[in-house]
Amino acid sequence: GLPDRVTIWEVGPRDGLQNESATVPVEVKLEFLDRLASAGLTTLETTSFVHPKWVPQLADAEDLLATLTRRDGVRYPVLVPNARGLDRAVDAGVTDIAVFASATESFARKNLNSTFDDQFAMFDPVVTRARDEGMAVRGYLSMCFGDPWEGAVAPDQVVAAGKRLLDAGCWQLSLGDTIGVATPGQVDRLVDAFAAEGVDVGALAVHFHDTYGQALSNTLAALRRGITTVDSSAGGLGGCPYAESATGNLATEDLVWMLDGLGIAHGADLDALVDTSVWMAGRLGKPSPSRVVAALSG
Ligand code: HMG
Ligand code: MG
Repeated sequence: GLPDRVTIWEVGPRDGLQNESATVPVEVKLEFLDRLASAGLTTLETTSFVHPKWVPQLADAEDLLATLTRRDGVRYPVLVPNARGLDRAVDAGVTDIAVFASATESFARKNLNSTFDDQFAMFDPVVTRARDEGMAVRGYLSMCFGDPWEGAVAPDQVVAAGKRLLDAGCWQLSLGDTIGVATPGQVDRLVDAFAAEGVDVGALAVHFHDTYGQALSNTLAALRRGITTVDSSAGGLGGCPYAESATGNLATEDLVWMLDGLGIAHGADLDALVDTSVWMAGRLGKPSPSRVVAALSG
């Protein structure tokens, strides 16, 4: 069966903008967030407290959060990699964070300057302290289906890494197809592998990049398995600067079109999303890669 309702975890302001070569002014980011909230989205991943040299596009995180008007009923999670990032998030009044691990050694090194094991030593105290501060902590796991340096990634390896994040105290685990290579059978096998290790499917979310055009098919496979939180970015913005060949996330508009067709509630206004993505494409100087945006704005 399929769920009655899905939570859209909008990552455009973070995952989308972290990968744009253009520097987006803080005013434009604020308007983007405001438009996304007006379009009915209730989880807006806003920015990252990572090293500004590693992701200069999000170096304005303090400024952005200081000027952001938070709306009732909207969550504004941010990425935090380490103790320094958590200090910054606490100072900015953040209540929702996400740590982000890699299922592979290679990407832990490229993305976090860490070994596979050391990344957990970095995250564990962050999760503990954040929870003591009353924060909700999500866990991301990257390269769950394939890695540009290591090739296919074994489900057992992914489950073992994911369990470390859940055991550390993350309330949800978002399974990332960072480079967009997964196909639906892999999604099934990975959910099976988590279930076999006693992980509640309700604690899982999915995060598909659309490099190979499989993001929507993979999402449908996940929904059929009882996953009800789906990450997407308005207009299909996105990618990862530390993962070669990664392109944008599943477009929120493409997701909404499918959910509408399936009669699954989500709370978003498709026309307002399309308007937002067309507006953002104008700011970025390039068209949205979303097929639904193209079809509805033609
Ligand atoms: P490092 O260089 O090893 O850091 O980077 P360090 O701990 O050695 O510290 C070096 C200096 O950086 C120190 O300053 C620290 O204070 C400072 P100094 O003492 O030399 O003056 N520093 C910081 N400054 C500001 N904020 C911080 C911070 N941390 C240290 N948080 C680090 C290690 C983890 C910081 C770095 O590798 C990093 O920032 N990585 C983040 C990369 C990133 O953001 N990638 C994209 C997000 S992940 C993603 O997109 C995938 C996802 O979408 C899911 C999917 O698709 O699979 C989530
Ligand atoms: Mg991503």
